[in-house]
Amino acid sequence: MSSILEINDLHFHYGEIHALKGVNLTVNSNEIVTLIGGNGAGKTTMLRSITGLLGKISSGEVRFMGERIDGKKPHKIAELGLAQCLEGRHIFSNLTVRENLNMGSYLRKDSGITSDLDYVFHLFPRLLEREKQRAGTLSGGEQQMLAVGRALMQKPKLIMMDEPSLGLAPLIIRDIFSIIKQINKDGIPVLLVEQNSNAALQVADRGYVLETGEVVLADTAENLRSNDAVRASYLGAS
Ligand SMILES: Nc1ncnc2c1ncn2[C@@H]1O[C@H](COP(=O)(O)OP(=O)(O)OP(=O)(O)O)[C@@H](O)[C@H]1O
Ligand SMILES: [Mg+2]
Repeated sequence: MSSILEINDLHFHYGEIHALKGVNLTVNSNEIVTLIGGNGAGKTTMLRSITGLLGKISSGEVRFMGERIDGKKPHKIAELGLAQCLEGRHIFSNLTVRENLNMGSYLRKDSGITSDLDYVFHLFPRLLEREKQRAGTLSGGEQQMLAVGRALMQKPKLIMMDEPSLGLAPLIIRDIFSIIKQINKDGIPVLLVEQNSNAALQVADRGYVLETGEVVLADTAENLRSNDAVRASYLGAS
């Protein structure tokens, strides 16, 4: 199995705050890997330091398809095929659904854009129905679908998602997770950050548990689901 993303001994500081303390994490081709942990554990910091959004990391290395990407600018990293759906979604409220999707593919020069748009509309028929609607007026769940759709329009080689289920109703959450599974079946590896650990460990192959900037557990999703400490702290089991 070849690794798509490999993170070695990653440290990150916000000024005095040591937010990531030597994290190691790997995503192999065809895997769904989940990163779980409580509020402030460093999950968003992980994703943002991988995509270059936080500037220079303190130390360590990030490799994407074998190539060092730490120190590269976010748009260069996106061009290599690393897409992310950010926490809080960050869609363009004043643009239509269709225009938002076009923003996802604007860096591409290949001829597959139309068929990828068909693919996104096939995954999310709701977005096709609302193609001309301003994104800011979509419901929360629809905005999340749009954020995932826009990331797919980058034709990513890896997609990273930051809490895609945040604030959504149970039925929509189920849809989002089954779509994540589908995207992965269609050949795209996924790094999934979630506080909804139950659902995340249902779809993932492997998982990492992050606590105050450190990986305290790394195992198959199945083993994590039956781990007593994980069950007590993250799965709501007594
Ligand atoms: N811009 C910033 N400046 C200073 N400290 C920050 C900044 N952003 C995050 N932090 C701190 O870094 C730590 C990790 O934050 P991060 O957002 O990565 O956590 P998280 O695991 O994503 O949490 P949540 O589940 O609540 O989203 C927290 O203690 C947070 O207060
Ligand atoms: Mg976060």
